[in-house]
Amino acid sequence: MRVLVTGAGGTLGRAVLPRLRSDGFTVRATSRRPRHDPTTDWVVVDLATGAGLAEAVAGVDAVLHLASRPGGGAPTHRVDVLGTRRLALAAGHAGVAHLLYVSIVGVDRVPIPYYRQKLAAEQVVAAGPVPWTVLRATQFPVFLDRLLRAASRLGPVLGDPAVLAQPVDQHEVAARLAELLTTGPLTGVQEYGGPQVLRFDDAVRAWRVARGSRRPLLPVRLPGRLGRELRAGGLTTSAVPTGRRTWADHLADTYGRPDRR
Ligand SMILES: NC(=O)c1ccc[n+]([C@@H]2O[C@H](COP(=O)([O-])OP(=O)(O)OC[C@H]3O[C@@H](n4cnc5c(N)ncnc54)[C@H](OP(=O)(O)O)[C@@H]3O)[C@@H](O)[C@H]2O)c1
Repeated sequence: MRVLVTGAGGTLGRAVLPRLRSDGFTVRATSRRPRHDPTTDWVVVDLATGAGLAEAVAGVDAVLHLASRPGGGAPTHRVDVLGTRRLALAAGHAGVAHLLYVSIVGVDRVPIPYYRQKLAAEQVVAAGPVPWTVLRATQFPVFLDRLLRAASRLGPVLGDPAVLAQPVDQHEVAARLAELLTTGPLTGVQEYGGPQVLRFDDAVRAWRVARGSRRPLLPVRLPGRLGRELRAGGLTTSAVPTGRRTWADHLADTYGRPDRR
């Protein structure tokens, strides 16, 4: 099967490319800038303008759509909503048989501006001309790690202790996506999360131990509906199967096992 992967140079894309290759897919990958890499057929595509799209979708059986411009606002709308529409139309025109879109668990519940645009992009995919599947994944551990580093820039780690998260390893998401490509379009939304639901304070505690950090958690209760949804598990899913790699596994790989440092 020939697959076009958009946003293939991102966190998930870097896990997806080797996975698809080792599963026997023929892969074409998009980036906004030319990349020279003998292992991959890279093409230049900008979803904000549509440049390169028609050539990119020509001759592929499926599109795995990962490209995104997080943040919310007009730039996100241009890439995630309008860009997804451009992609769906170009893929329909080229006779692509499956559009597999990666979204985020909670886009339909948690009032974050970026999530609203992801939900709108899901709707564009579902209303478009190509048979489709949406996989909503929970947060990748690398993302949570980055978030905690940002949240502790000023010293203590700022956060709402009771927010729930369910990190899922991006390599396991990549494996799930490869399975979904093989299955073909489901005309529906699936969810995929990690093996454990963690409270923010527990995640921070493990993170501090792994990093040998003394930075305390400074509890800040998130107000309003956002806080309520996040504490009620808006970012988590009961879907099975789940990934197997835990937050502790990620921390051990990244910072070393505490007993071996
Ligand atoms: N991060 C998470 O924890 C998480 C969790 C669940 C789901 N997701 C979803 O999974 C997908 C991949 O996430 P990720 O963390 O791998 O994202 P990422 O690292 O930010 O990568 C996204 C890629 O999108 C491409 N892109 C940005 N603007 C573009 C444009 N105008 N035209 C074409 N491509 C553009 C960029 O590639 P170039 O710079 O090479 O063009 C970038 O590498 C996203 O849809 C995200 O919403 C993420």
